[in-house]
Amino acid sequence: MKNLLLLAVVAVSATLGVAQQCLPYTERIDCHPGPFTGNNREECIAMGCTFCDADVPDWNVPVCYLPKSYGYKMDGQPEDTGNGFRVTLKRATSLTMFGSDSETITLEVFFQSDYRLRIKVTDGTSRYEVPLQVDPAQPATGNRLYDVEFSNDPVFAFKVIRKATGTVIFDTSLGGLTFSDQFLQISTRLASKNLYGIGENEQLTFRHNFDKFPVFPLFTKDTFPDGNANMYGVHPQYTVLEEDGNAHSVLFVNSNAQEFVVLPAPGLLHRTIGGIIDIYIFLGPTPENTAQQYTEAIGRTPIPPYWALGFQLCKYGYDNLETMKAVVDRTLAAQIPQDVQYGDIDIMDGNKDFTVSQDRFGGLPAYVRELKAKGVKFMTILDPAIALGEAPGTYRAADLGKEMGVFLNNSDGTIFEGRVWPSSNVGFPDFSKNATREWWITMIKEFHDLLEFDALWIDMNEPDNFGNGDTNKGCPNNKYNNPPYVPKIRGDYLPTSTLCMDIEDSISLQYNTHSLYGWLESEPTAAGVLAATGKRPYVFSRSTYVGTGRWASHWLGDNYSKWRDIKTSIIGTLQFNQFGVPFVGPDICGHQGHVEEELCQRWHELGAFYPFSRNHNAYGMKDQDPASFGPAVAESTKKALEIRYTYLPYLYTLFFYHYTQGSTVFRALWHEFPTEIATQGIDTQFLLGPGFMVSPALNEGQRSVNAYFPNTRWFNLREGTEVNARGTTLNLNTPLDTINLHLRGGIIYPTQEPALNTELARRNDIGITIALDDNNSADGRMYNDDGDMLNPTESGKYYLVHHTYANGELISTVENNGYPRMAEIKLDTIRILGAPQNLSTATGFN
Ligand SMILES: *[C@@H]1O[C@H](CO)[C@@H](O)[C@H](O)[C@H]1NC(C)=O
Ligand SMILES: *[C@@H]1O[C@H](CO)[C@@H](O)[C@H](O)[C@H]1NC(C)=O
Ligand SMILES: *[C@@H]1O[C@H](CO)[C@@H](O)[C@H](O)[C@H]1NC(C)=O
Ligand SMILES: *[C@@H]1O[C@H](CO)[C@@H](O)[C@H](O)[C@H]1NC(C)=O
Ligand SMILES: *[C@@H]1O[C@H](CO)[C@@H](O)[C@H](O)[C@H]1NC(C)=O
Repeated sequence: MKNLLLLAVVAVSATLGVAQQCLPYTERIDCHPGPFTGNNREECIAMGCTFCDADVPDWNVPVCYLPKSYGYKMDGQPEDTGNGFRVTLKRATSLTMFGSDSETITLEVFFQSDYRLRIKVTDGTSRYEVPLQVDPAQPATGNRLYDVEFSNDPVFAFKVIRKATGTVIFDTSLGGLTFSDQFLQISTRLASKNLYGIGENEQLTFRHNFDKFPVFPLFTKDTFPDGNANMYGVHPQYTVLEEDGNAHSVLFVNSNAQEFVVLPAPGLLHRTIGGIIDIYIFLGPTPENTAQQYTEAIGRTPIPPYWALGFQLCKYGYDNLETMKAVVDRTLAAQIPQDVQYGDIDIMDGNKDFTVSQDRFGGLPAYVRELKAKGVKFMTILDPAIALGEAPGTYRAADLGKEMGVFLNNSDGTIFEGRVWPSSNVGFPDFSKNATREWWITMIKEFHDLLEFDALWIDMNEPDNFGNGDTNKGCPNNKYNNPPYVPKIRGDYLPTSTLCMDIEDSISLQYNTHSLYGWLESEPTAAGVLAATGKRPYVFSRSTYVGTGRWASHWLGDNYSKWRDIKTSIIGTLQFNQFGVPFVGPDICGHQGHVEEELCQRWHELGAFYPFSRNHNAYGMKDQDPASFGPAVAESTKKALEIRYTYLPYLYTLFFYHYTQGSTVFRALWHEFPTEIATQGIDTQFLLGPGFMVSPALNEGQRSVNAYFPNTRWFNLREGTEVNARGTTLNLNTPLDTINLHLRGGIIYPTQEPALNTELARRNDIGITIALDDNNSADGRMYNDDGDMLNPTESGKYYLVHHTYANGELISTVENNGYPRMAEIKLDTIRILGAPQNLSTATGFN
């Protein structure tokens, strides 16, 4: 295949009868990304584009592409602004893709720090910009990691170069720069084919595939995972691992319907239908540095409440309290740890927010108090859409919402009405308005008076609507609902299963802000949970956008109970860690479909090691809680969760590192071993933090796993034995009841005796596992606080100890002693792995 591609570089345009050099497929930028309406060739040539048959069949190669002379030219020299450059550009072509091109645009480069730069392109008119809070970077020290170069032949292009290595990490010379009213695009060559990120779409491999011009549309939508289809969240961000192991990441700040095309150059094309071009580049140079620098800019996820790291059970369709209780009871009877029980929308009266069904869940408020007394928390759900059809005076959320003017209006001034779960039409709150925030917080507080939930889960906030636009009126035909170009989104029509795009909120039109809906709902919900509970708020959201992590976490949505989905769950979790939303995981055992026992057994074993560990499934699907299958699944789930609970102090410490430094929690092997080529494509194994490696079985009938061991010292977590493999793959025997877990040498892992929930476990003795490196040394920290207070790190009310082990001596230095209860907890177990003599004092570990 490779050879064929190389040979096919020059094709001849036959129909013109003139031998014409065609651009090779690797250099083509589509001139006609929408569907052709007439004769393709004529339509293409009439536009001024070049038509040339695909030189590689079945590869989606653009046949109608932009000439290399397409683009802008510099008007004068780049102006040095002291902290970057300003370049004025004039359009150098009459070819227009979608009309309304800006003739003059300004490109500004801002050197924001040694490791961060911003490139902003505007056209001097007041165009929409995303109201994204970007926090400042560390001040520049003069050791800039990058240089920027401009060229003007045949048209304007710029390059960002990593100074230390000369690697070109961004290079727009592929062409295609377009800045028009409703179509903007920019392309870059990539430094390598190790490309990761861009979401939210279902991706079958973590590292992108460069074949066949894959398109990743981004526009928030409630849809089942289906290949590249746009899903719940929008994260126009990617990371590239350069050939030499350095890494950088790039953010495109845009919230319009947009798409990325992965180009074979290798390159990447970004197209959007509104806003401006606004790009941030983070230079690393290590993969973890890119995550740290990215989250420094967009915001980090606060440390979750400790209990939220425990195992969680949910199902849509318990339908009555007795069924819910039976699940909790059988989980306890099987001695499986459980920290959280949920009620989905079926606990509501007629699927209406802020209500509890008297008939089916009348005893729920009392039961929630009973659970809490035992240390089990309760969470429930809110959808944004509010039923409008109830009689006035009978449904407070609607009455107060109307009174406070919170519902979005159609462009004709009437309330926009859609259809969601309630039986009457619904209104959609405008979360960009202060009045809505106040109303929402009030409703959450009043709801808490009725049902003492500990945290909230927000769903359907893409926002999802069961019809296209207003139930009664649809959407008017105008440039917002029917723009000249629509990215390859589900439904090919922007209002598909959502609101009309010409609806105005207090920021802008839905055309611009649609994908921000769940993001805008997140902060008010976190504020509501805080107001209601007085505790560290915990919220997780189906729809997310850049910076969601500041207020909310995420679960991967409504996936299938299939083997394919257990694999993609690792990829999705890795991606969201790069997106700054590290507290994430899928529905364990899948959401849609009746799960098979073997899959569910494997999934619970893996599920014990997602940052967010929750089993949940859909209405009408058979029970899939771990105790519902019988002893085999229950036993192996219990065993895996006991290890999770044992290592919760390590996991909690990783969240401390995320919040304070931006580190990932669930981590790709290449983040730690970027120069080991074998790690770069691995997405079936992962690390928790720098050292806890998980190598699950992900296929039906599989009883052994080929696991790669990066080139360092590794120990079997259960047995404590050293693994005799470095920089190589081992075939590990993996019976159904076991998941492969290994500890990297050189790290000290804090532990605690497990229990049936974290409230109980937090009183148990603690321990440390010292896994030695080749010098028989190790290092690590343990973070702790009271588990649910607000702002522990800001207020100093936390405990942080630094353990170092070298020359047979363990030194523990308390770096912050702001959590007095630590003094009551006994350090009981010190386990040393890899010591030259038998020093093992291990007790209580299996
Ligand atoms: C919708 O219109 C009503 C009536 O004019 C107004 O009270 C309300 O605030 C508007 N909604 C929003 C979100 O502004
Ligand atoms: C909304 O509230 C914020 C913070 O309280 C305030 O700064 C802002 O001016 C308010 N906006 C409006 C439109 O009232
Ligand atoms: C589910 O969907 C998400 C997108 O939300 C995707 O990233 C993930 O890989 C899919 N699979 C699972 C099992 O979560
Ligand atoms: C062991 O110590 C040597 C000398 O101090 C150092 O170069 C090497 O990096 C250390 N190895 C590990 C695995 O830390
Ligand atoms: C190390 O010592 C423990 C406790 O005495 C013993 O159970 C274990 O078998 C010893 N291991 C080795 C490898 O000698």
